[in-house]
Amino acid sequence: MTGSSPPARVEVHPNAELAAEAAADRFVAAATRALRSRGSFLVALSGGNTPRRLYELLATPPRAAQVDWTRVQVCWSDERCVPPDSPQSNYRMAQEALLSRVPLPAGNVHRMRGEGDPIQEARRYEELLRRLLWGPGARLDLVLLGLGRDGHTASLVPGATAVHDSVQWVAPAFSETSAQWRITLTPRLINAAAEVVFLAWGADKADMVARVLEGPRAPHDIPAQLIAPVDGALVWILDRAAATPLAGGN
Ligand code: 6PG
Repeated sequence: MTGSSPPARVEVHPNAELAAEAAADRFVAAATRALRSRGSFLVALSGGNTPRRLYELLATPPRAAQVDWTRVQVCWSDERCVPPDSPQSNYRMAQEALLSRVPLPAGNVHRMRGEGDPIQEARRYEELLRRLLWGPGARLDLVLLGLGRDGHTASLVPGATAVHDSVQWVAPAFSETSAQWRITLTPRLINAAAEVVFLAWGADKADMVARVLEGPRAPHDIPAQLIAPVDGALVWILDRAAATPLAGGN
């Protein structure tokens, strides 16, 4: 975190299910605040596997009824450059686990078109977000992020300094690990959000969680360290397995 950013809040829950429930409750609370103050809620969903259970919990009682889905706008933190029906698609996972199960208008689902040219799609998506985020003080209400074992988040991968430092809101990014083009929100947009929530559970994330939160700062090598909301909230929702190496994490 940079010197000026508010400190991160770190929540440690006994297991992954309780961590997912805590994340779902935080989503509902963020939506309630935004809908009450502005009448709409714009959330960027994380990809990967971790948030699936969170999305399933949001799509089932009691939480499904606690959000006015008709006034929710959904975008993504990143997407793999694959078709929307690919098993690798972040859109497909969210569509199956949540979006197809709540009364969210189709026009409110803003899919990153992974099937397109990454450079052109990044440009299109940024224009879309600039239309959604018009007016003074407009910003993403909530950004959900995962954490890769190499320290990446969204598709901000180690060493990709041009993407990390981009003045754009959306950028194409190549992931060497998956040998795949991606489209990603950049730190510039993410750090302007009202609330950013990292989701990390499982022992395989523990070492990287500790490095991000308590290790030396090396944000271009550990891109999750690039995430430092200017004045928004930064929250880590962990299970005990992912928090064990943290000072007092057990
Ligand atoms: C993606 C994600 C990526 C993910 C992490 C964690 O498209 O893969 O955006 O940043 O959140 O790699 O992935 P898991 O949740 O599957 O561990």
